[in-house]
Amino acid sequence: MNTNHADMKKTACVVLGVTGSIAAYKAADLVSTLIKRGIDVRTILTASGAQFITPLTLKTLSRAPVALEQFAHSSSTDVEHIELAKQADVLLIAPATANFIGKAANGIADDLLLSTFLAVTSPILIAPAMNSKMLTNPVVQRNISVLRGRGCEFIEPEEGLLACGDIGRGRLAPIEMIVRSVMNVLSLKQDLLGKRILVTAGPTREAIDPVRFISNRSSGKMGFAIAKAAAKRGARVTLIAGPVHLETPTGVERINIVSCEQMRNAVEAEFNNSDALIMAAAPADYKVEAVSNQKLKKQNSSFSMTMLPTTDILKSLACCKKHQVIMGFAAETEFLEQNAKAKLLNKNLDFIAANDVSAKNTGFEVDTNQVTLFDKAGNATKSGLMNKKELANWLLNFLLDELNK
Ligand code: CTP
Repeated sequence: MNTNHADMKKTACVVLGVTGSIAAYKAADLVSTLIKRGIDVRTILTASGAQFITPLTLKTLSRAPVALEQFAHSSSTDVEHIELAKQADVLLIAPATANFIGKAANGIADDLLLSTFLAVTSPILIAPAMNSKMLTNPVVQRNISVLRGRGCEFIEPEEGLLACGDIGRGRLAPIEMIVRSVMNVLSLKQDLLGKRILVTAGPTREAIDPVRFISNRSSGKMGFAIAKAAAKRGARVTLIAGPVHLETPTGVERINIVSCEQMRNAVEAEFNNSDALIMAAAPADYKVEAVSNQKLKKQNSSFSMTMLPTTDILKSLACCKKHQVIMGFAAETEFLEQNAKAKLLNKNLDFIAANDVSAKNTGFEVDTNQVTLFDKAGNATKSGLMNKKELANWLLNFLLDELNK
């Protein structure tokens, strides 16, 4: 992962929440490492966190006051949780207990950290630490999914010997890994600066008559998340969007199309000026042969239409591909790997992100997704379940490596 410290704002501020896990003692190392990397750290220590580590330790290491109580009597007239929320370039909760995760997922704000959590607009990183049975408890997993769905990024705990003597997953991620995640978020990785990325998103509509059409359930969310993430990382992004009601991400040039033919024309017009194409759209595979100019009238008998194949946009580009890196998506309901690999070959792609659209959390219209990414060298990498923003960045990391080859 490219972590360019020089790209970061000099006074980047991490607001660190320390909750009541035995791993709270590791917060000392975490604060010290962040400070050594030139980052301001403002710590919020919960009442249970303070059972495991003293405010004095964290104050000394962070060279800043440690916030403890929601209604502390201080000389400042500032509303503390709002002030802390405003200061945060990143809110990092490490270690995060099951209790914190549960309350945060349910909008409870009964202490300073939880109130700050509700008020921040910065990215949020959460590093859980707990017993493995607690971690795998469906309630905790549901709370984690809720928070992921709201854009929180989780730094996965590791396997190992736990404080209670059990062996399992639940140990706080290594400090180096937590710090790396913070640096990645802070540097906002302008690693796609100067790259021109073409993204397609959403369904197409194939007209039957002036009032009817054939379409599909693609919501466009994945493609829009990719366009947004790529623009944030410095790319010049053109987004070719089918009919969806989604806001155009800041800094992205949007071209609206309706039919597969229009999408093809728009992609072809932009392709030569692009370094990469990500086809997250679901263009129709068929169009109606004879589109009626007038509204078709109901008949009391069965009715059939002739459908003609549309152009496979990706496949049609195989011939004119030069330096471009091309990533496709494979929406599958069965034989995921086999079908995705066939599409990768057949369409001459660098990558294909295969997702099972029949599963509950990874199908259409939802905010989460999970893919297996196949590349042309035969590697397969599973993303795990992520929100679409996280997944967008995950996919862009692979694209970037390929662009830099
Ligand atoms: N695609 C395309 N042009 C089309 C249809 C699909 O470029 N007319 C692209 C999609 O944007 C996606 C990839 O091809 O990146 C795979 O799309 P998918 O719908 O999964 O597969 P199809 O090739 O349409 O095959 P099938 O519907 O039989 O699964």
